[in-house]
Amino acid sequence: MELLETSMPKGTPQELAHKGESMLDMMRKRRTIRQFTDEDVSPEQVETLLEMAMCAPNRLDRRPWHFVVIRDKELQKQLAGILRVHPYLEKAPVLIAVCGLPDVSRTWLMDISAATENMVLAATALGLGATWLGCPGDVLWDRCEKMLLNALGIPRDNRGVIQRVLGRWNRWFWGEATKLSFQTIRIPALVAVGHPAQEPPPHSKHDRFDATRVHYGRW
Ligand SMILES: Cc1cc2nc3c(=O)[nH]c(=O)nc-3n(C[C@H](O)[C@H](O)[C@H](O)COP(=O)(O)O)c2cc1C
Repeated sequence: MELLETSMPKGTPQELAHKGESMLDMMRKRRTIRQFTDEDVSPEQVETLLEMAMCAPNRLDRRPWHFVVIRDKELQKQLAGILRVHPYLEKAPVLIAVCGLPDVSRTWLMDISAATENMVLAATALGLGATWLGCPGDVLWDRCEKMLLNALGIPRDNRGVIQRVLGRWNRWFWGEATKLSFQTIRIPALVAVGHPAQEPPPHSKHDRFDATRVHYGRW
């Protein structure tokens, strides 16, 4: 009993309920924001988004991710042109390119998706707005990815990057990793971040929860 009590989170039931509620509220409140004001996003805010991204769950804690922070209107204009997405890609004060390392983990795409979701939720919590963009395999996205790999100076020979990411693992593991054929670093997602100039309504259980998609025990 004592053990149970000491391991319980601290706070009155009301405080704990409030904390839980605000987290759930944040998830409902997170909406894709495609209109931004002229207000800038501070470096501290960007760092918080990236910190939260790197808190994401990921298989074997391999963290198969890198992030490139983009504040380059000319590049943003080119991206908007390729993806035919106007005008928020150019207008966003910051774009974050979410890069994945396929050689570091089989679940790299899932792992970086969890990081991206953390990032857009954190943006909501900071009062910012964000759009998650990306469709690997789509012709326009592939063109955009290729352009970014060049423009952002993403290393082509990524053995050094992989070695550093896996450096925490023992030599046996590194031995295994060296057997892999090295794949290029990928950019499956971009996150556009800014101060919201629109306020879509939060999601509600009424709008989103669909009991026909849920199966208990058997489909
Ligand atoms: C993998 C992924 C790719 C997306 N790509 C785009 C995109 O290219 N352009 C865009 O405007 N929104 C994009 N979105 C945002 C979705 O359109 C949006 O999440 C969806 O319509 C639900 O709306 P909500 O985010 O407001 O709940 C993407 C979202 C995800 C998860």
